[in-house]
Amino acid sequence: MENKEVKLSVKNLVISFRTANGKVQAVRNINFDLYKGETLAIVGESGSGKSVTTRAIMGILAANAIKEGGEIVYDGQDLMKIGEDGFHKIRGDKIAMIFQDPLSSLNPIMRIGKQMTEAMLINGKLSQKEARKDFNSTLKLLNVNMDAAIAGGDKQIAEQNARKCRDFDKFEYKHLELEGAYDRAKNNASECLYETDNLLFEIEKNAVTDLPSEVKEILKLAEGSVHKYVINSRAGELMAAIEKIKQYVKLSLPEAALDFACRIVGKKSRKVMEMKGSDIRDQLTAIREIIAEALEYPMPNFFAMGYYLTFSEEPLPDLSVEELNVFLRKYLDDNFMLDFIASTKSALIKSHEEGLANKQTAVDYINEVMHIFEGDMLKRSEVYKTSRKLIQLITKAIDRLEIHKDNYAYTFASSIKAAISLYYNGIRRNRIEEKRFAKQTAAYERKVAKGKTPDWKVAGKNLVDLDNAKADICAIISKVKENFVNEIAKGDAHDFDAKAVEMIDYLKAKASDVAYKVTRRMAKARALKLMEEVGIPEPKRRYKQYPFEFSGGMRQRIVIAIALSANPDILICDEPTTALDVTIQSQILELINKVKKERQLSVIFITHDLGVVANMADRVAVMYAGKIVEIGTAEDVFYTPAHPYTWALLSSMPDLDTKEKLEAIPGTPPNMIYPPKGDAFAERNKYAMEIDFEEQPPMFKISDTHYAATWLLHPDAPKIEIPKIITDRIERMKNKMGGV
Ligand SMILES: Nc1ncnc2c1ncn2[C@@H]1O[C@H](COP(=O)(O)OP(=O)(O)O)[C@@H](O)[C@H]1O
Ligand SMILES: [Mg+2]
Repeated sequence: MENKEVKLSVKNLVISFRTANGKVQAVRNINFDLYKGETLAIVGESGSGKSVTTRAIMGILAANAIKEGGEIVYDGQDLMKIGEDGFHKIRGDKIAMIFQDPLSSLNPIMRIGKQMTEAMLINGKLSQKEARKDFNSTLKLLNVNMDAAIAGGDKQIAEQNARKCRDFDKFEYKHLELEGAYDRAKNNASECLYETDNLLFEIEKNAVTDLPSEVKEILKLAEGSVHKYVINSRAGELMAAIEKIKQYVKLSLPEAALDFACRIVGKKSRKVMEMKGSDIRDQLTAIREIIAEALEYPMPNFFAMGYYLTFSEEPLPDLSVEELNVFLRKYLDDNFMLDFIASTKSALIKSHEEGLANKQTAVDYINEVMHIFEGDMLKRSEVYKTSRKLIQLITKAIDRLEIHKDNYAYTFASSIKAAISLYYNGIRRNRIEEKRFAKQTAAYERKVAKGKTPDWKVAGKNLVDLDNAKADICAIISKVKENFVNEIAKGDAHDFDAKAVEMIDYLKAKASDVAYKVTRRMAKARALKLMEEVGIPEPKRRYKQYPFEFSGGMRQRIVIAIALSANPDILICDEPTTALDVTIQSQILELINKVKKERQLSVIFITHDLGVVANMADRVAVMYAGKIVEIGTAEDVFYTPAHPYTWALLSSMPDLDTKEKLEAIPGTPPNMIYPPKGDAFAERNKYAMEIDFEEQPPMFKISDTHYAATWLLHPDAPKIEIPKIITDRIERMKNKMGGV
């Protein structure tokens, strides 16, 4: 799976819950990566830990949850360790989640529209500050690297670089100011068109409900549409029409007059009045026509215009928008952009090369000291000293101008510290635990020796597996090393021209986050657009309704729209269709697929029913009793399943044709207060061997993409064929889905 950008990594995640009966071990060491643009399905029976895993990602675990360990890495940050504040920005904004029961995420007594806009207004404010910080620090870093790349200590060149960066900052904000004003006018225009069409339709049907306020709204929107590049040559015409309507309806007059005008249009009773009514209609039609035409106008290149207006002494030339754009683009390129891109490119190359050299140093050091972490007993002082140096070298080797962050390097410091302290605390705690066990056992045996039957039992040893803890430390180091070695091997085989443009786009996006003040009106326009995107008919009418006025499927669409409103990177769907009818179910799946493609989202899709994800998952992780027991591409898991539990899921899934279930999985999942010792599925598995009851199987690698934790994959295990009933099923599935 090389070349795939990892969006999210879950590493060694362990979560339990405190309960009156004991500790529920809900998630027992889970690992997976989520790639950009993929759908990863997490499948398993109820209670296997699917929701707990995703709730941990969202930072919304129940109060009795204990985060025993592990990391959830997103954008170079460990979500397990950042505080509430940081989490707010990521949750909902970058990672959004929808649940099985859409009602649970909607406020029953708030109109749908308000629920959608509220979220946008709040999110908008939070991301502004952060974006400004990012913009400033990235631009500064770029400047530093430009100096290193091209100034070579020359003061004059350094001054030029600083000026370039300052200029970029300056006109970028001018650009946003211009574009913001334009967007507002354009939004008004499109709303005006919508409202006018509505009113004309009502007039036609003789069903006007509230003419004065409807007209008032339209006039306000029409006036708000006047902008040099939205309504230009016909602005006079538009204003004239607005004035005429104002005269007729006398909007500033008392209610009685408005009411009067309303009646004119409603009942075409008296002749004179009728004329006025038709006049209003004519003027509305005129407004409609001007606005509709305006919405087709091309948009000026405000980025380039921002530059021109900031730095050119001349006024804007009098040209058509198309010609103007060509002129402005050329002006920007000649005076600034080509040079800025070139400097950016040099800066990126510099930063990359420096990063490579530092990566090589780090890799060399890792090779030199790795044995320290691989011995039988790890020497404490040596381990701490070496890890400090590792942290220093690895942190230094990060190319901070690389937009696609290497999560492993970014979180190396916190990962390794946690793993080391787990190991040493384990040694200490195991000693105490052994003592306790020995003491209690002795006491117990004394009683038995005296012929008594004690009314208590000695609790089993609760030991930290030190071998595992050591293996974790090594894995953390190896993973960083592997990524570094890959980067070094690639060398400078990157398209730095593309990267330079990407960097500038990144800065532009950050700047636009800063400047993007979400007004109520904009939020509404966006909410309506989103409602359309998720397939809600008549969004205008629906906007004003309450959740109970929606069907289950429509509610789920609304929840998806709300989730999308912050433009997330990752969408987590926790059994989003389980509560819905089968036909609605497939519509929602289709919708999720559609938005995933259009928005390049990464999706985690949770379900207890393998059948649901057969057509939509790129990869599948099968969970059982708090662990991932098999993970692979959809083809791996559906066509060459390896774990007996996956076989059982496959055979219990409703048949593609008949919809009947072949055979239910016998038995029930284990009690997670006392999880079984070996393979948790052993008790229900007719292929279980002795070792399955004794020892947990490791993850065996089947192929580069396919892993499963079952002793059946051990080289010494007896060869067990997949049951025929399942191979038949797979055969039919292959035929149905057109094969691999
Ligand atoms: N707040 C809680 N307190 C105690 N146990 C919990 C809590 N939340 C979940 N669990 C337990 O954790 C295990 C995993 O639950 P969950 O992740 O919801 O399963 P599912 O795979 O069905 O989504 C279950 O045994 C469940 O009972
Ligand atoms: Mg669940």
